[in-house]
Amino acid sequence: MLRSLGGHSEVTRRSLGGVGSVSLLFVPLRFPPCRPQKFVRDLILRRCFSGRVLDAGCGIGDNALYVAKAAPGTNVTAVDVVPRCLEFAAAKADLRNMRSQVELVVADLLQENVSCMPRALGHEHNGTFSVILDSSTFHCFSDSDRERYVSTLRRLLRPRGLIYMNCMSEEETRPGGPRRISVPDLLTVFNRPNGWEVETIEDSIIEVHPTFWGGQAKARLFTIRKL
Ligand SMILES: C[S@@+](CC[C@H](N)C(=O)[O-])C[C@H]1O[C@@H](n2cnc3c(N)ncnc32)[C@H](O)[C@@H]1O
Repeated sequence: MLRSLGGHSEVTRRSLGGVGSVSLLFVPLRFPPCRPQKFVRDLILRRCFSGRVLDAGCGIGDNALYVAKAAPGTNVTAVDVVPRCLEFAAAKADLRNMRSQVELVVADLLQENVSCMPRALGHEHNGTFSVILDSSTFHCFSDSDRERYVSTLRRLLRPRGLIYMNCMSEEETRPGGPRRISVPDLLTVFNRPNGWEVETIEDSIIEVHPTFWGGQAKARLFTIRKL
């Protein structure tokens, strides 16, 4: 498994030309430190997860597996558009004997035609998730793509449900990485007229591989409620 992970990372790095290139294939295998993000560990300590939890853009599954283990009683669904990510997540779940505790789903969260979605995210699951975890996913999208992404989150989240969204902030001025999300930018998408309330905004970090940016980037954690 390790040989396979290393090989995949090398291929994507070569083909994309360096750390500054952000790509759906490149990001999940290059950046994460292969442990749950600090803000997720903090949210667990604050008992923020209950009921059905959707990890939107789960990457190789470290956050989802951690939530499933550390917040018993939750029902975690982890979704990513890159099948290879889910293969790694599944391998980790198997190694930890947790395969039955996390539902792993390959899906494009930008898909507007719900009948093209896998069953796990189809119409029958509308409004069934209590919490959505977005760890560095929203900030990957262009303006037009994020409208489609947020529309999917709105459909799946129950009324009064919460999104925990950790995004790279504009205070991270080192070159490279994803787009930065300022507070005004976030509020153009998540606001009362659009059916959302941003309840809290906290300084945060994104943990990255120790060889990159000294292991962390400046971020913000937004807690967003569906009205
Ligand atoms: C920066 S990575 C973050 C991964 C993980 N959440 C973490 O914290 O390590 C962003 C993830 O979003 C996924 N992603 C991007 N576009 C997506 C889409 N349209 N549907 C589902 N997942 C998507 C990528 O494949 C990638 O795994």
